[in-house]
Amino acid sequence: MERTLVLIKPEGVQRHLVGKIIQRFEDASLKIIGMKQVWADKEFAKKHYTEDIAERRGEKVREMLLDYITEGPVIAICLEGVDAIENVRKIVGGTEPRNSPPGTIRGDFAHVSFAYADKNNLPVKNLIHASSDETDAKREVALWFSEKELHSYKSIQDLFM
Ligand code: CDP
Ligand code: MG
Repeated sequence: MERTLVLIKPEGVQRHLVGKIIQRFEDASLKIIGMKQVWADKEFAKKHYTEDIAERRGEKVREMLLDYITEGPVIAICLEGVDAIENVRKIVGGTEPRNSPPGTIRGDFAHVSFAYADKNNLPVKNLIHASSDETDAKREVALWFSEKELHSYKSIQDLFM
């Protein structure tokens, strides 16, 4: 069993896509073990999008991303399941909506390219964040949720695992 963090970014909340997005995780039998709405400030957002982003994508991308993620409240969700990290990334799609196939969240609800975003000094608006590996998932779940906010319970899916 793994736990992973999902953030429906402010864009997803403002476009009223929360229900549709959560439905996809429930449909795949992933269990919601924590969920809340949070309006993060820049300081908090920097703990989520650490220096690692600047190293991988550049300082400018990190700055734009910090604005994008703090422009309104997000929905933070902790999901649990078998290989949850990889499975959630599969449902979410790739970083670039243009290359995310239909059926993925980023492919179905967005379409922009890296090239378009970079040319127009915009972040890649891809609606949703999902932890990328075990190390990030542990760190991110602990950042957004206290242990008290995470729940252990039986759900119908436990019968069909
Ligand atoms: O979110 P994901 O793990 O797929 O990608 P990442 O490499 O961890 O980058 C984090 C976020 O930075 C992406 O989800 C995009 O929103 C944003 N990004 C961007 O604005 N411009 C880029 N050229 C690359 C990423
Ligand atoms: Mg990432």
